[in-house]
Amino acid sequence: MKTEKIRSLFLQFFKEKKHTIVQSSSLIPKNDDSLLFTNAGMNQFKDIYLGYKKINSSSFASSQYCIRTGGKHDDFKKVGYKPYHHTLFEMLGNFSFGEYFKEKAIIYAWEFLTHKKWLQLSKKKIWITYYYQDYETKDIWLNIIKLPSDHLIAINDKNNIKYNSDNFWKMGDSGPCGPCTEIFYDQRKKNTNIENIKNSNDLKKNCLEIWNLVFMQFNQIKPNKMIKLPIPSVDTGMGLERISSILQNVSSSYKTDNFTKLIQSIKKKIKNKKKNNVSLRIIADHIRTSTCLISENIIPGNEGRNYVLRRIIRRALSHGYFIGLKKPFFYKLSKFIIHSFKNINSDFNIYNKINIIRNILFTEEKQFHFILKNGMNKLKKEIKKQKNNILCEKKIFYLYDTFGLPIEITQDICKEKKIIINIDKLNKIIYLNKRKQKKNKNKKIKKNSYLMLITKKSIFDGYNERIKTTKVTQIIYNNNITSCLKNKCIGILVLEVTPFYGESSGQIGDSGEIISKNGIFIVENTKKNGNFIAHIGFMKNGFININDIVYAKINIKKRKIIQSNHSATHLLHSALNKIFKLKVNQKGSLINNKYLRFDFQYNEDITEKNINQLEIIVNKKIQKNIPINAIITSFKKAKKNKVIYLQSKKYKKIVRIIDIENFSSELCSGTHHQNTGQIGFFKIISCKKIGNQIKRIKAITGIKVIKYFHKKIKKEKKIKNLFINNKNNIYQSIKKIINNINDIKKENQKLINQNILQISKNLISKAYFINKIFFIIKIISYKEHRIIRKISDIIKEKLKKAIIILINENNFITTFLINITQNIIKNINALKIKNILFSIIPGQGGGKKNIVEGKLINKKINSKKIKKIKIKVIEYIKKIMN
Ligand code: SER
Repeated sequence: MKTEKIRSLFLQFFKEKKHTIVQSSSLIPKNDDSLLFTNAGMNQFKDIYLGYKKINSSSFASSQYCIRTGGKHDDFKKVGYKPYHHTLFEMLGNFSFGEYFKEKAIIYAWEFLTHKKWLQLSKKKIWITYYYQDYETKDIWLNIIKLPSDHLIAINDKNNIKYNSDNFWKMGDSGPCGPCTEIFYDQRKKNTNIENIKNSNDLKKNCLEIWNLVFMQFNQIKPNKMIKLPIPSVDTGMGLERISSILQNVSSSYKTDNFTKLIQSIKKKIKNKKKNNVSLRIIADHIRTSTCLISENIIPGNEGRNYVLRRIIRRALSHGYFIGLKKPFFYKLSKFIIHSFKNINSDFNIYNKINIIRNILFTEEKQFHFILKNGMNKLKKEIKKQKNNILCEKKIFYLYDTFGLPIEITQDICKEKKIIINIDKLNKIIYLNKRKQKKNKNKKIKKNSYLMLITKKSIFDGYNERIKTTKVTQIIYNNNITSCLKNKCIGILVLEVTPFYGESSGQIGDSGEIISKNGIFIVENTKKNGNFIAHIGFMKNGFININDIVYAKINIKKRKIIQSNHSATHLLHSALNKIFKLKVNQKGSLINNKYLRFDFQYNEDITEKNINQLEIIVNKKIQKNIPINAIITSFKKAKKNKVIYLQSKKYKKIVRIIDIENFSSELCSGTHHQNTGQIGFFKIISCKKIGNQIKRIKAITGIKVIKYFHKKIKKEKKIKNLFINNKNNIYQSIKKIINNINDIKKENQKLINQNILQISKNLISKAYFINKIFFIIKIISYKEHRIIRKISDIIKEKLKKAIIILINENNFITTFLINITQNIIKNINALKIKNILFSIIPGQGGGKKNIVEGKLINKKINSKKIKKIKIKVIEYIKKIMN
């Protein structure tokens, strides 16, 4: 039986039962903010259920289009993987408001499904569930329908939460709700034992849920508050695609008549490529949903319904890409679904809007294509690298954050390839990042991912030019392509030709201004990806429109410093090669308007002499004012001429050489001066080891060198001013001071030694003597903890059997030491004494049986507490030694 036929039989059945047949309402619920999309046939009757709207007729039937993605009922992730789930499906339903309730609703459903005039399903194959406290429903099934009792299953609440059950239906977080009874169809082959269905797990495994009869009795007004509805009502819903699959005897609703045509058309497009069922189902499902949503005037976007649509389209495109559809294809599929929507009873206007729908899909597809290509390539590489089929969650997040590849798409692909992802970890990363983003909202445009949105190429003309009159070819605002950037908005402009250098080859991006007749855009940074160049910044005033003719002006002062640092980097690189007589291996560089940084591999230490040599060589080249030429040539020729290039980098066939006559010749796309003299000065400010045999030189150029020396001289002067005499020989003066300090230290040590000896003697004389053991407890005050260790060592030398507790109080910290002579540790344990100490003065510390050290939390300790400790320790000694 064709799907069309089933729909019309259903409506005919209820017409005969005196129901008013109504159209499918819009997918976008009218005047109802509690729902994102229409998710059930009952939605259009919500006000009647709640008693807000009075009606003439009291029973209705419809075939309603529903969307179940986003909101309370969300099947998005199941689509493709489960044979009967869809983001958009048709729901056949009958509704009653006071006319009939449980009994008639059940009798109608049973008749339509099993009577020979209608669907004629075998009664033996039908199983029923009901809400465990709904005894009325149970009674109807058993005593009126005469259903065998073993075909009736009671469904409980989950986690003991009242009404939290598969058999208690809720429209959303608020709205009408009530207990329900569900009809299942047994899908097992004839010869299997059909009596073994005992609970909902058995049901889910073997049967397909086809019809849900809800008895609306309550209105959920708050998460934990329900009130009774004015009149108990009926709301039933049967998935048309599901009942079709049963009547067409196929194992999935994707195999029913309406879907097979669509899936065939997609298969034709794939030709010989990979035919993956999950992907085919996802594409087929998503084209239906996207087409219907666009026909209802929803366009892809970043929020709410628009975002849901974008998410659906992008998922379909990714699956297309995955099975080999690497060019726009999705927009062409809309036309294949017209046939299945042509006879529906609704206001959908797919046929008349087909061109608009195609155009919107095509634009979205083109825009996403670039993101997809990059992201998927990166994902493929990551997957290839995996050894034990586990993809790190940070990588997945990186692909999303940097390349814009949606996370669910990575998850889908990984699922296909049997790559494991730790979802909890991934969710944690997403959560933490969302929180961070919330904090940084409006502060800065998200790094890099916007580059993927640019589709218009730019010509860079900024080697010699600083100012250009050019055209705005693309505007990006809030991660969307747009036609106008308004006052004070942060965004990205793309220009036909630009003098702005986009960050690359270690050189930072230019900043400056883009001025149109209507406003000024401040460029804070320029980034590039191939020929796509993003001018990132904000509208200082006015606005800029797409296609505006603008005046693009870089910050020349900043650019000149960057050029000095870049040209100096080339001189430094050649100077390094010269003094180390071998090619140093460049490992990275950074060129900005503050300094230059050059990392390279060199195994030996770099001496001060080396640094001086380097500075002299580079500065001599600057003084000579040598021309710096840019030469365009083939990579082959360049290699032949022993030009410096990075082994790790891939170069195009035609390359650019920066040539500093007879000294340096290097492949480079950066911006440089015309002569070395323009650099002014060169000074290395640091040289460090940063990794295994990797060294990093940091240097400055031009006026910055002069300023650097000014600072140094100022500091030197300050130090000189500390001295009254001998100002001109500071070295001598400081050396003298250090010698003096050392002498003083020695003297001080002597005094301390004498002092601690004295203290130790004193402590011994005042020691308690209990059961032949000396016991000392004392607070002292020394700068260093080690002094109390010395004191206790001295005491231990003098006393045969001793327990010593010393507490050292100084301004910052109070430490303690418990020391016990070796000959009594069999009985007395320093760790136990520590516990006694901490029971009076809390602290932290550890050690062994004979010695424990640590700190006490109280900084100031009074004698009362010491007394208490003393008493307790004495008790302990007595107890042990008796
Ligand atoms: N509202 C119920 C459901 O969606 C019955 O139509 O299942």
